[in-house]
Amino acid sequence: MKTVLVVQGKGGGPKTATARNLAVAAAVAGLRVGTLDADPQGSLTYWHAQRPAEVAAIRHEQRALGDIDRKPTPEGLDLLVIDTPTAIEFFPEATGLLFDSADLVLVPVRPGPEDLVSMEGMLPYLRARRRPTRLLLSQIHPRLRETADARAVVAGMGTVAPVEIPHLQEVPRSFLAGLGTAEVAGTRTGPLFSNLWAYVAQDMGV
Ligand SMILES: Nc1ncnc2c1ncn2[C@@H]1O[C@H](COP(=O)(O)OP(=O)(O)OP(=O)(O)O)[C@@H](O)[C@H]1O
Ligand SMILES: [Mg+2]
Repeated sequence: MKTVLVVQGKGGGPKTATARNLAVAAAVAGLRVGTLDADPQGSLTYWHAQRPAEVAAIRHEQRALGDIDRKPTPEGLDLLVIDTPTAIEFFPEATGLLFDSADLVLVPVRPGPEDLVSMEGMLPYLRARRRPTRLLLSQIHPRLRETADARAVVAGMGTVAPVEIPHLQEVPRSFLAGLGTAEVAGTRTGPLFSNLWAYVAQDMGV
């Protein structure tokens, strides 16, 4: 089993949107996927409870970060995607366990100046964890000057995924439906999340 840990210190990161859409893209690709909601806020758990019966099954567990006392080792899965709360550094032991279990750490980054400043502050923490880490530009407006600026900034921060997720209402809409956009026909981000999964899968040797 491979584990992807989604982290971002900035609230509204967008961590949960990344976690659920990546999980769905992998499930659509035929993997046995599980999700772990380590955020006591429970957004991913709410989303999972809305999933219709007819879509690809995703096995879900909710365990608040403060209650995690061992590496997650669910059986019978090909992929576990872990969603986290913002202030992971307040739970150093639990966070350490999640980083240790991660084959890949995925860090969504919005292109706003506040997000980039926050990201700069998070970098030493991420580097100290020493796990393969990929940055994902998300919620972007492709033609804005700020997006071009952000591309340049994140390129200097680490390895950036060759996929960018645009800001589109189909993403929040799919939350309420319990879906990922990769399973909603006609979405623009669906194929992008599938491309992201293909990239992440190759990186992890899946
Ligand atoms: N690509 C996108 N386009 C438009 N809206 C998006 C996109 N990605 C995420 N959002 C929306 O942005 C908001 C924040 O996203 P999300 O909940 O994934 O962030 P988060 O990092 O999990 O937040 P929190 O820190 O509260 O856990 C949500 O309303 C979500 O639906
Ligand atoms: Mg969240």
